[in-house]
Amino acid sequence: MHIEAIKLKNFKSFRDTEMRDIPGYCVVVGANGTGKSTLFDVFGFLKDCLTFNVRQALQGRGGFSEVISRGADENALIEIEIKFRMEIASIDRLVTYIVKIGQQANKPIIAREILRYKRGRYGSPFHFLDFSEGGGYAITNEEDFDKPDEDLEREEQTIGKDVLAIKGLGQFERFKAANAFRQLIENWHVSDFHINLARGSKDAVGYDEHLSITGDNLQLVARNIHENHPDVFEKIITVMKQRVPGISEIKPVPTQDGRLLLSFQDGAFTDPFIDKYVSDGTIKMFAYVILLYDPEPHPLLCVEEPENQLYPKLLTELAEEFRAYANRGGQVFVSSHSPDFLNAVELDEVFWLVKKEGYTQILRARDDEQLAAYMAEGDQMGYLWKQGFFEGVDPQ
Ligand SMILES: Nc1ncnc2c1ncn2[C@@H]1O[C@H](COP(=O)(O)OP(=O)(O)O)[C@@H](O)[C@H]1O
Ligand SMILES: [Mg+2]
Repeated sequence: MHIEAIKLKNFKSFRDTEMRDIPGYCVVVGANGTGKSTLFDVFGFLKDCLTFNVRQALQGRGGFSEVISRGADENALIEIEIKFRMEIASIDRLVTYIVKIGQQANKPIIAREILRYKRGRYGSPFHFLDFSEGGGYAITNEEDFDKPDEDLEREEQTIGKDVLAIKGLGQFERFKAANAFRQLIENWHVSDFHINLARGSKDAVGYDEHLSITGDNLQLVARNIHENHPDVFEKIITVMKQRVPGISEIKPVPTQDGRLLLSFQDGAFTDPFIDKYVSDGTIKMFAYVILLYDPEPHPLLCVEEPENQLYPKLLTELAEEFRAYANRGGQVFVSSHSPDFLNAVELDEVFWLVKKEGYTQILRARDDEQLAAYMAEGDQMGYLWKQGFFEGVDPQ
């Protein structure tokens, strides 16, 4: 599954914007405050809507009045539209999910929620799910493509006005597209790595399968992979050896007082280093490799500003690892304002955000003639960025 387009209206600084033809590996650059984190939070917001309900998802972000764009009309709705590709009945289809959120008597409501795609090669997209203000229908025999539209069976339902229809219906496999989209959002992950939290020994109790947002369970996840997926662990060590000069072995080591630490063997020395004394860059690279080679990878991964603490050379390598993850089937969005990171990405992969009159605009590197021409001549994106070729951005 692959997200191909995102359209936002009145979602915080995204007053009216669209990203189209999004690649599997998408790098979003922009100065501080241009909306990179907000863009990723679209997925976080939807995930919270699915886990809880829309009211709670809004509350966690300061309430409806904080989420709706400043200056929006009184009756304006927060609108999120996501187009994704998936195979249904052996045909690759472009599915559109739309949700519009408003307020009624100071309570958030879902004004409209639609899931649609074309049934045949021609004609307009068909609504397989269509709800407004707590009532609507979903098609139960979605995959009966031989039947004409009018023979499809509609299941009418009443749900809470602030509950997404895909939350309930998406649990059933017969609602194919709703089910797939729900899973994509539920397994979405954001990584906002904090080196201080990742370092040091950790209480060795329990197993953690996935790296946390901050990376504070790195030791536990490493042990889980080491013990339960030795082949994956070996792969991780191979990648680390390739990427970080000197590293020859990494092991999770239990301590006598019931804690767990990581030991890093440097080929030049007999005694290993414990994670407390390894360089920031090495720990960080290890955390990203653990994240990217997760035995059950996230289908949709967002990574916040990976550049801090990493040497330019490691940034290039990391950019390649993200691309490799996307090539293995996961979709990756990375935010950055590092010229060094940008030097390792391609023209097609880069979107850049600027603020215009307080609202975010999404531009694309390949749509800029000058950038495209320089890149075609073999220039590197990061240098162009540093030299101020990205209009509206002061790289300082
Ligand atoms: N409801 C809103 N309407 C308009 N702008 C908003 C709203 N909420 C937050 N913002 C703005 O959005 C920006 C947040 O950007 P953020 O996503 O944190 O940027 P980045 O991650 O690129 O540094 C801030 O400039 C903030 O003022
Ligand atoms: Mg940010």
